[in-house]
Formats: sequence, structure tokens, C-alpha cells
Amino acid sequence: MDARFCPDLSTLSRAKPAPASTLVIFGANGDLTKRLLMPALYNLSVAGLLADGFSVIGIDHNERTDEAYRGQLTEAIHAFVADRTGESSAGVVDGRAWGWLRDRLSYLTGEFEDPGTHRRLAERLAEIRRMRGHGTCVFYLATAPRFFGPIVERLAATGLMREEGRDFRRVIIEKPFGTDLASARALDGHLLGLVAESQLFRIDHFLGKETVQNILALRFANGIFEPLWRRDHIDHVQITAAETVGVERRGRFYEATGALRDMVPNHMMQLLAMTAMEPPNGFDPDAVRAEKAKVVQAIRPIGADELARDVVRGQYDSGILHGMQVSAYRQEPNVASDSVTETYIAMKLHIDNWRWAGVPFYVRTGKRLAVRRTEIAIHFKQAPYAMFRGTPVECLTPNFLVLHIQPSEGISLCLSAKEPGPTVRLADVRMEFRYADWFKTGPSTGYETLLYDALIGDATLFQRADNVEAGWAAVQPMLGSPAGVERYAAGSKGPAAAEDLLARDGRRWRELA
Ligand code: BG6
Repeated sequence: MDARFCPDLSTLSRAKPAPASTLVIFGANGDLTKRLLMPALYNLSVAGLLADGFSVIGIDHNERTDEAYRGQLTEAIHAFVADRTGESSAGVVDGRAWGWLRDRLSYLTGEFEDPGTHRRLAERLAEIRRMRGHGTCVFYLATAPRFFGPIVERLAATGLMREEGRDFRRVIIEKPFGTDLASARALDGHLLGLVAESQLFRIDHFLGKETVQNILALRFANGIFEPLWRRDHIDHVQITAAETVGVERRGRFYEATGALRDMVPNHMMQLLAMTAMEPPNGFDPDAVRAEKAKVVQAIRPIGADELARDVVRGQYDSGILHGMQVSAYRQEPNVASDSVTETYIAMKLHIDNWRWAGVPFYVRTGKRLAVRRTEIAIHFKQAPYAMFRGTPVECLTPNFLVLHIQPSEGISLCLSAKEPGPTVRLADVRMEFRYADWFKTGPSTGYETLLYDALIGDATLFQRADNVEAGWAAVQPMLGSPAGVERYAAGSKGPAAAEDLLARDGRRWRELA
């Protein structure tokens, strides 16, 4: 074998600690910080991926001392570890790793929009520069989206976004990036008037999932798939994100948002882009993001006639889920009793490019469905039947390749095999790869890679403005048409109209069971 084609991947995957830096978290007392960011930092600390000069400044409006803040997060870490292991956290929290991080936490009381908060932050950062010898800083906006613009304005006005020498300044924000194409453009325009695109890290947390990142490895590190990955061999693609949870305590947010805005322009478009993009020239962040933007931009805008036919909306009614009676969406807190907000959406999309012409992409997502499952199923074209004439085989089942994103993570290929015995009969069988069988994976929130990448400046897994805007452009025609929301029983597979969407094309969704 030619050694040039066989680099030692184990050495490539060994990561170095991120450079010394300060992480400033606006929204230090919020859920995101407690439930995801701090546990992710803790996991990075366990893995030794944070440099000695790393520290965290949490900012929020509630009065706290540094010590009280450290105590509060210590409790949160214990709860998180207990949650993940299902056991008491005693002896399970790595005391050395948490102690290391705990000593680097401090707190600043202040309103996000108050220039005084930003002045005091600047003083703290100047002190860190004196003590630790670096001025590098990542600002994480773990706040409501209405603060994104004002916080970045104040940071810029205080001179905190200015990068000097090797000291970088970056801002992380998380969806929702606007509520439609116009507002996403306005937000991008506003932010990009204050900081450079290279300083903005827009998180779509689906990209933190290992199995989503693995789509690129599957497609581009395995020679067998690429020749088949096109219209000549693929009949259609199904992308599913089914959830069993309802809207929980987020009724107010969800009423104004709905399943379409909440999931499709962002998470579902990420899955579609990873599946359908052309091979980028390399793993360079701009090459990857350019290809992703290109394929989403190639989605054919849904016309007025197709809206009623190719887009199905549903809303969950009461029902039985996992043996328990659960309430209807309209009975959830902060939801109108006559709400027409969709909690389920399914659609048929076409990608108008050379590779995918004529291959429908069926996309569905919903809450309170029978199972929790996120997957991408590639349905291949059926083999010719002719050879089986004169055998008991009445029809052939097409092959499909399923990329399981969650909760089980892996890949399966569904094939037909001959049943043992003298007559020719076929059975559906599966070749299966499960992550858990092959790799030892430590506990992860999905934010570890994203935080680490922001600290080392690798933007591959973050959204550029054109990615965000392409997602909104693809769904824009579907926004603002609340007509036809069909009720479905909680715990079911969704509205009946979604079944018809595929049945009309002679196809079926994969079972949600
Ligand atoms: C969030 C949505 O972005 O993603 C939620 O706002 C949804 O409504 C969640 O439940 C799904 O993410 P995950 O990682 O739980 O599949």
C-alpha cells in the first residue's frame, strides 16, 4: 500500500489544549450556562483541553459574589453528573478537573445593555492581561436574542472587539438568528457593521453532535458511497427529527415560533446540507460552509400552488405517550386555547442542481410523537425485478442507508437476502454499525467541540451569514401561512396528511415505532 494514502489518523485526532483565553458568558445564571456550557467546560477540563491561562467571567444582573457563583455552579455540575450517570455524583465528579475550573470562575454583576457593565468588564480583562499575559477573549451571548445587537454594540463601543497581535476577540451567538429572511439579514447587517464575519461564531447545536459531523466522514472518507450518491441511484431522501417531548415550559416562545421556524431553517437544513452538499476542496471552514450554503440555495422555492400540497402542518392533541396521558398543546402553559401554531411540519423539497434533480427530499419534524428519533434515510432505486419472475418473490424492497443521529448513533444498511431453504424467498436484513460498539465515548453535552473550536478559531462547524440566510430563504414562502393545521394525537406518528404527502408519490415514511 502506498503510505502517502494512509496517514496515521490517531495522531491527527490528538487535540492540543486551546490557547490561553478568557470566556465571558453573558447570561451567567441562565439554563444554557448551567445545563450545557459549564458541563461542557468541565468535560474539556477533564480532557485537559483548556490551557492554564484559561478563565471564565460570568455576567448577569443578579447580585453574586465570585464565591457564591462558584458554589452555585458546583451544585449544577454535581446535578449534571448525577443526571448523566443516573447515580449520586459523589465520587463521580472529577474533583481535580472541577477544582481547576472552579478556581478560574469569576462573576460580574451588571445589566447587559448598561455601558457601565462593559467598562467594568474592560477593567477585568485589562487586569487579566497584566496577570496572565494574554488579552484573548471569547464572548458567549447565552441570552435572549433581543440582546445580541445591543451587547455587541456595547462591546464594540468599549473597544473590546479590537484584536491586537495574537489576541483574538470572538462572539458566539446561538439560534434563533432572526425570525424570517428579512430579520436574519437585518441582524447580520447590524452585527457585521460592528465586527468582522471571522469574529462571529453562530452555533447550531446539531453540528456539535458527533453523528452529524460523521456524515461528512461517511460520505467523503469512503470510496464506495460517492459514486452512488446522486440522482442516478437514489430514489429519495427522508430526514426526520421526531421528539417525544412537548413544548415544556417554553409555551410563550413556541407560540410565536412553531415547529417550522424552530427546527427547519436551522437544524433540518444542516442535516440536509451535510447529506446533499458537493465535496468541498478540503476541511477548510470556508470551503465547507460555501458548499453547504450552495446546496441550500439550490432548494427550489415552494410556489403558492405547492404550499397546500407539499407542506403539512400539525399540532398535538392530548394522547397516550409511553403509557401516560399527556395534554394537548392548547392546554400547555402560555399557549392560547385556540392556537394554530404548528408543533409538527412535513414537507417535500427539491434541490435544483445536477446531482439531485428529480430526487425529492422529504423532511419532517414534530413534538409529542411516538418515538424520539433523528435520522437521515437514503432510499436507493429498486433493482430490476425481471430476474425474479417465476419465483415466489412478488416484489423487491429497495435498499436504504440510514444515518442514525439520535438517540442510537450509527449507520445501518438495509438489504434483501435470500432466506435459507430450497425456494427463492427474500427477507429484509440489516448491516449495522453502532458508535457505542466501536468507540469509547466519554460523556458529552454536544457543546465541547463547539466551545473548543471557538477557542482555537476553527469555524467549520459554525454558520456563516450566507448559511443562515439560505436556510431562511428556503422556508420563507412557508412562513405566515398558518392555514390547515391538523391535530394529531400525542404519541402517534403525526398528522394523516403527512402520510398522504408520500403516498401520493407512491412512497412511505419510515415507521416511527
Ligand atoms: C432546539 C429547539 O433548537 O432543538 C427545541 O428549540 C428542540 O424545540 C431541540 O427540542 C432539539 O434538539 P435536540 O438536541 O434535543 O435534538
